[in-house]
Amino acid sequence: MPSDSLTITDNRTGQTYEVPVQDGAIHATDLRQIKVEEDDFGLLSYDPAFLNTASTRSAITYIDGDRGILRYRGYPIEQLAEQSTFLETAYLLIFGELPSREGLDKWTDEITHHTFLHENVKQLMEGFRYDAHPMGMLISVVAALSTFYPEAGNVSDPENRLLQVQRLIAKVPTIAAFSYRHSLGLPYVQPDNELGFAENFLSMMFKIAEPKYEAHPALARALEILFILHADHEQNCSTNAMRAIGSSRVDPYSALAGAAAALYGPLHGGANEAVLRMLEKIGSTDRVPEFIETVKHGEGRLMGFGHRVYKNYDPRAKIIKQAADEVFEVTGKNPLLDIALELERIALEDEYFVSRKLYPNVDFYSGLIYEALGLPMAMFPVMFAIPRTAGWLAQWLEGIVDPEQKIARPRQLYVGAEERDFVPLEHRAGGELVAV
Ligand SMILES: CC(C)(COP(=O)(O)OP(=O)(O)OC[C@H]1O[C@@H](n2cnc3c(N)ncnc32)[C@H](O)[C@@H]1OP(=O)(O)O)[C@@H](O)C(=O)NCCC(=O)NCCS
Repeated sequence: MPSDSLTITDNRTGQTYEVPVQDGAIHATDLRQIKVEEDDFGLLSYDPAFLNTASTRSAITYIDGDRGILRYRGYPIEQLAEQSTFLETAYLLIFGELPSREGLDKWTDEITHHTFLHENVKQLMEGFRYDAHPMGMLISVVAALSTFYPEAGNVSDPENRLLQVQRLIAKVPTIAAFSYRHSLGLPYVQPDNELGFAENFLSMMFKIAEPKYEAHPALARALEILFILHADHEQNCSTNAMRAIGSSRVDPYSALAGAAAALYGPLHGGANEAVLRMLEKIGSTDRVPEFIETVKHGEGRLMGFGHRVYKNYDPRAKIIKQAADEVFEVTGKNPLLDIALELERIALEDEYFVSRKLYPNVDFYSGLIYEALGLPMAMFPVMFAIPRTAGWLAQWLEGIVDPEQKIARPRQLYVGAEERDFVPLEHRAGGELVAV
């Protein structure tokens, strides 16, 4: 009997099965041989939120939630946040290695020269309502890009794939900034090819009448750090959407629009907004103990605390806290920071939070930085989508070339009615449309 295997005894039949264990996992389809009757479908594993299901092999991002470790392609997030730039990190995610000087220059040049949007895209954006949510605009416009680049549907061609990857990483910030300007009724600002990635984004967002917008270097660097920290996070909800949609071999614009839609949800990209609302509601540091008590009594959660994977301090939260200090030195301190610090101090000492391993997550401080940069809450998920575009695309590419990839198509446990005969209309009761 090989040692790397699992012996399963089916108590329904008394039969024993040998299932190989590879990389700490069994293959779910190996369970299909476990049957009561010969014509049974075979045993399924039931895992509605993928709590214990690996959906892919991936060499991109490594997380150890118990030890608070996050690495892209093996490089610790702390080192990337300190020494890398967003575009270099994006290169690392996409190509698997850090670029040479020449490689980085070429990559930067390609991204810089794809930042402009077709004039028709601009007109499309102008058609949105004056108060359209920027994330709704971003999702729609990214989807619309597939109609501008129909060749993107040829996902089997590596050169073609790379072109779309460059276009998306370059154009998403432009769409994001245009969406923001649209919501304010301000004219769109075209990209400035002389600026770096973060500086150009800030220019497209905030330039008014000055001939050249020069962002404060500390603010541009803080934004760059936030972009690095948010670039990938393995198989989260939106990445799973990207891979699932991509597995149908649709073009990457359509897949990325779906991923961005998943990110729009309050349980995913919206938590930092919830943190700000919570801090505003608490209002002052002396009300923190009272608030903590309400959380402990089950009346709401301490937003920005706890994580499905991290059962330790989220490594990104540590870096963001430091970046926040640097931002506040330039912008002046956000008064909500003191409330956040007091919440963290008390929660980290409190038995309720300690015993449940609830630590600050990435969202606890990021909203405070975005607010200090002058961004409205509606822009927070958009700010997340800009860097995550690189991660989504790296994961999409990995899926496309994975020989094990098939169209994502889970099974279900059918719990509905047994076969029954159609009832003629005149024999049916009721009439209300009851919401389900
Ligand atoms: C992130 C989150 C959804 C993870 O949830 P999860 O892994 O499913 O954890 P659970 O909901 O099972 O929580 C485990 C326990 O901790 C408690 N808990 C989890 N997060 C909590 C929080 N933020 N505040 C208070 N209690 C919390 C739960 O009530 C539960 O307690 P119980 O065992 O007494 O019932 C959850 O921690 C949360 O809602 N956090 C706040 C929202 C947030 O910051 N989201 C952004 C994530 S990046």
